[in-house]
Amino acid sequence: MFNFHYRLERNAMGLVLAIVVVASIGGLIEIAPLFTIDETVEDAPDMRVYTPLELAGRNIYIREGCYACHSQMIRTLRDEVERYGPYSLAVESKYDHPMLWGSKRTGPDIARLGGKYSNEWHVAHLYNPRDLVPESKMPAYRWLMRNSLKIGDLGEHLAAMRAVGVPYTDEMIANATADAYGQANPDSTQAAGVTARYGEATNVSLFDGKPETLTEMDAIVAYLQILGRLTDVAHKTEQASVE
Ligand code: HEC
Repeated sequence: MFNFHYRLERNAMGLVLAIVVVASIGGLIEIAPLFTIDETVEDAPDMRVYTPLELAGRNIYIREGCYACHSQMIRTLRDEVERYGPYSLAVESKYDHPMLWGSKRTGPDIARLGGKYSNEWHVAHLYNPRDLVPESKMPAYRWLMRNSLKIGDLGEHLAAMRAVGVPYTDEMIANATADAYGQANPDSTQAAGVTARYGEATNVSLFDGKPETLTEMDAIVAYLQILGRLTDVAHKTEQASVE
């Protein structure tokens, strides 16, 4: 064996050929799963895109580095499914640019957080986690309540997402600022446009509890409440595998 390698190393062409053969085996193993991608990635016709307010919240989530402590990907292992809910499917992150699966769980996974708590719970928790969970190690994010949300450029954010494949319509882009305001102000005239464009089930609510002013808190709570709820295909898959 060592003798063979010794001889191979002294034969330049032979060594190059051997490297090509060995490297292409590695390459094939990486590429092969892509040939069956159509069968492995499930379809979710009911999947909706993030609203402008949720997208703004997602940007804040990235800015504050929440992903450094929270993952958004439930693995297929039994303990994870029992603790967090149905395991994550590839299709559920198809509109996530960048993806926020994360690899660190100082806090719990939040892939199925939407609807688990009330808006008030989230506001109080982000304001000071220890008010609700005394032993919590999570930092307080008080400024989210004070900072007013920048919504003037949300149309451009949507357009940028469309450039990478998220199906936002011209109408959604043109109304992004109004929709962000409407989603956090159920009594405003802008609210109807949100459900018209993003579906009746869209969560239109006073996220931070205060009408009129839009804060970063509104955006991040809107985002947290939609996690795992853009489609219910994962819940259906779970049912099918139980039957
Ligand atoms: C230093 C690590 C750390 C960071 C950064 C962090 N968290 Fe947490 N988070 C935790 C821990 C630990 C818990 C569990 C204790 C608790 O509920 O407060 C938690 C819990 C939570 C929960 C409750 C989850 C559940 O299912 O009960 C939410 C929601 C949450 N964090 C959101 C956020 C958001 C949003 C951010 C960014 C603004 C963030 N976290 C940043 C550590 C962190």
